[in-house]
Amino acid sequence: MSEVTNSVRFVLDGQIVEAQGKRRTTTVLDHLREQLHRTGTKEGCAEGDCGACVVLVGELNQAGTAVDYIPVNSCIQLLPTLDGKSVKTVESLRKGDGALHPVQQAMVECHGSQCGFCTPGIVMSLAGLVQHNPCPNRQQVNDALSGNLCRCTGYKPIVDATMKACEAGPAALKIDDRADVPLLKEIQRAQEPTFSLDGEIIVQPVVRTRKGSEFVSPATLAEVTTYLTRHPQATLLAGSTEIGLQVNKQFSRPSHIVYLGNVAELKRVDETSSAWRIGAQVPLSAVETLVAQAYPDFAEVLRRFGSPPIRSTATLAGNIANGSPIGDSMPCLMALGATLVLRQGERQREVALDKFYTGQKKTVLQPGELIEAVLLPKPRKGQVFRAHKISKRFEQDISATCAALSFELVDGRLKGVRLAYNGLAPSPCRAPKLEALLEGQTPASVSPAALDAAIADSFVARDGLRATWAYRSLVARNLVLRFLQEAQQEPQAALDTAA
Ligand SMILES: Cc1cc2nc3c(=O)[nH]c(=O)nc-3n(C[C@H](O)[C@H](O)[C@H](O)COP(=O)(O)OP(=O)(O)OC[C@H]3O[C@@H](n4cnc5c(N)ncnc54)[C@H](O)[C@@H]3O)c2cc1C
Ligand code: FES
Ligand code: FES
Repeated sequence: MSEVTNSVRFVLDGQIVEAQGKRRTTTVLDHLREQLHRTGTKEGCAEGDCGACVVLVGELNQAGTAVDYIPVNSCIQLLPTLDGKSVKTVESLRKGDGALHPVQQAMVECHGSQCGFCTPGIVMSLAGLVQHNPCPNRQQVNDALSGNLCRCTGYKPIVDATMKACEAGPAALKIDDRADVPLLKEIQRAQEPTFSLDGEIIVQPVVRTRKGSEFVSPATLAEVTTYLTRHPQATLLAGSTEIGLQVNKQFSRPSHIVYLGNVAELKRVDETSSAWRIGAQVPLSAVETLVAQAYPDFAEVLRRFGSPPIRSTATLAGNIANGSPIGDSMPCLMALGATLVLRQGERQREVALDKFYTGQKKTVLQPGELIEAVLLPKPRKGQVFRAHKISKRFEQDISATCAALSFELVDGRLKGVRLAYNGLAPSPCRAPKLEALLEGQTPASVSPAALDAAIADSFVARDGLRATWAYRSLVARNLVLRFLQEAQQEPQAALDTAA
């Protein structure tokens, strides 16, 4: 193995751990199990689906007084992303006096475990939930568990255990991070770029091999763009929910990885009176909260996007750049008229999302160019927005088709129609022929046959692994009819929502 010159430093239960000589693509799970013998954390699927590997990853809050934890699928997170952070495994939960965490204790008392393989992941997902929501309802507990598969126990005792655990109260549920806070401060990397004597930015790698492969984790956008100018083919790493799979399942070993998770400018949401500017590194969980009031259907699509550990790390920018034909955020964003802010060095340009894709997984992004932010318009008065994802399972499943429709009703007629889909074409896209068909009609006058004809005229009929064309095209038509019917039934509710 090539020699590694740098090291990853993170905090584990009141101690700084220094991981030296690691590959840039070593996963957090492998390091926890194989080097630190934290074998409570299990490997089930190694692709973010089963939740057996869930741990909590923490960062200092803005005030630097406590640690904010998120649930993470450790199987698809790369170890160097832990640099400067704190991690809690199921072993961390036991108190100094040997007492179990209330979630663990209640799992025992409510018989929430049988073979036990899933149990540590479930306990960590629930421990993560009660850190920020110590009084969840059953629906919120179900949501928190949507990424944890249990094949033997059944979920009722597990949900019962959570409700029982919460009787212990917030103080007992809270993870004690007092010892971790000063250590996290000690291992923080510089928040400003370092310059050479020639005035050039130096981007310090977290991991560098003798062969010259690197993992860098810049703190500023200037460092990112400088690095990309020098290494335009470098792989950008955001939430790692795609890249982690490529590493585990396709044995991808990118030579240069730029992790965006510590870039302050990319983690911000800014707003004007007409739009939000969502930084490329804002996680989907935050976007879900952001749009919940203005676009509840978009929030619902995001609530069904993967699971909490996926949404706490995955980003809109990663979803968009990855460009999967069945990517879920894009139909909503396209129907809402989202624009991307792209950056290459000093150069910034804006590209409408519906002009971003040039083919299957092909985009207008140039080498060394990144998505800096997504501009999402706020609702206009009178705007109606509807979206729905069709998948075999309600939670944690991939779309057969997701449709999103935006319009205004002026004198009872559809105006400014924007309709977008995933799953029907090589990339998510708008449907201009269907938009033209709908424009100016009353919702009641739209005929299923005309929609069918426009769909047949717009897309190449193709059966896919997840659904036949017959099914997808039927769903594509029926979703439009459903949205229109809802607008007729609740026109005032629709307008109030959008206002
Ligand atoms: C269990 C599981 C469930 C999933 N469920 C869904 C689902 O329901 N719906 C869905 O649509 N997807 C789903 N996905 C896919 C994935 O979570 C999404 O595509 C996610 O949004 C990717 O974001 P990320 O931040 O993790 O990207 P990463 O994995 O970090 O990167 C993905 C790609 O985007 C590029 N990239 C990242 N940031 C930028 C940037 N700022 N500029 C340019 N390029 C960039 C990377 O180089 C890479 O090519 C799921 C994945 C898993 C593992
Ligand atoms: S091992 Fe299945 S989600 Fe990580
Ligand atoms: S207890 Fe066996 S998989 Fe959940």
